[in-house]
Amino acid sequence: MKITAYEVRPDERNTLERLCTEKGIELVMTAANLDMTTVELAEGADGVTTLGQSTFSNEVYDKLKEMGVKVVAARCVGYDRMNREYAEAQGFKLCHGSYGPNGVAEFTIMTILMAIRKMKRAMANTDDKDFTLKGKQGRQLGSLTVGVYGTGRIGYHVIKLLKGFGCKIICNDVYENPVVKEIAEYVPFDTLLAESDVITLHAPLLPSTEGVIIVNNARGGLMNIDDVIEALENEKFGVLAMDAYPGEEGIIHMTHDEDIVTNFAGEKKSWLKLQYVRSFVNVIHTPHMAFFTREAAEEMCAAG
Ligand code: COI
Repeated sequence: MKITAYEVRPDERNTLERLCTEKGIELVMTAANLDMTTVELAEGADGVTTLGQSTFSNEVYDKLKEMGVKVVAARCVGYDRMNREYAEAQGFKLCHGSYGPNGVAEFTIMTILMAIRKMKRAMANTDDKDFTLKGKQGRQLGSLTVGVYGTGRIGYHVIKLLKGFGCKIICNDVYENPVVKEIAEYVPFDTLLAESDVITLHAPLLPSTEGVIIVNNARGGLMNIDDVIEALENEKFGVLAMDAYPGEEGIIHMTHDEDIVTNFAGEKKSWLKLQYVRSFVNVIHTPHMAFFTREAAEEMCAAG
């Protein structure tokens, strides 16, 4: 059997090599995304594996099919970009990765604490030799209400960790998870928006969320960036902490330290908006790294 692995990070190489050697699988690895310019690297492969930034266009699937590829596996949990309907109609077997929810859940607790203790401002000010307490008064998590929108594996783990802080936890999901029900209260979505001091994972921006802390460690597409910008400009957020940013493909997991900004049009738009959003003192942005622990990276290679 042969697999072509796309989007391979340096830290994944040894694990992928070891796993494939153990199973007698021939492996081709590339750091490149799967797209029309790289699809031919899958020549002779039975399956391909990717992370979250490849292009799963109909054209790419047509070419993979023509070359005899049968399985397309994402090493990440999210499969929102995989163009599932077309792929399945073409007879591909699709799989997605799986790893423990701990890394993302712990990261979420960290970002909530950073947000409520004004850590971005504190770090920037102290770097600038400003050791005042100005603008740095925080809140204690135990006296806040945290709204958890989405109560699957990660949401549930976040709730379990939050329990230790003594905060009020309310949650909302289309499916009410029985194990969550034992430790937190499900409320209608509007109540979650109205009553939460902190909303974790994702929530739409509504006037009733004024001053709220939003943590989005899930998917950028859950936010409309122009609404986010308008809300930031109108001081509607207490803090926005985001590990996921809309249009982050081609931005995250690579350096832009030598980029020259030539214009505000076309593909640079998301990148420029990101620079603007990041410039707010109440925005914490991290480069989609909540998943990135040694433990999860190994599990992703094994599952994908
Ligand atoms: C996921 O596993 O879905 C992630 O968000 C991680 C990333 C490598 C795309």
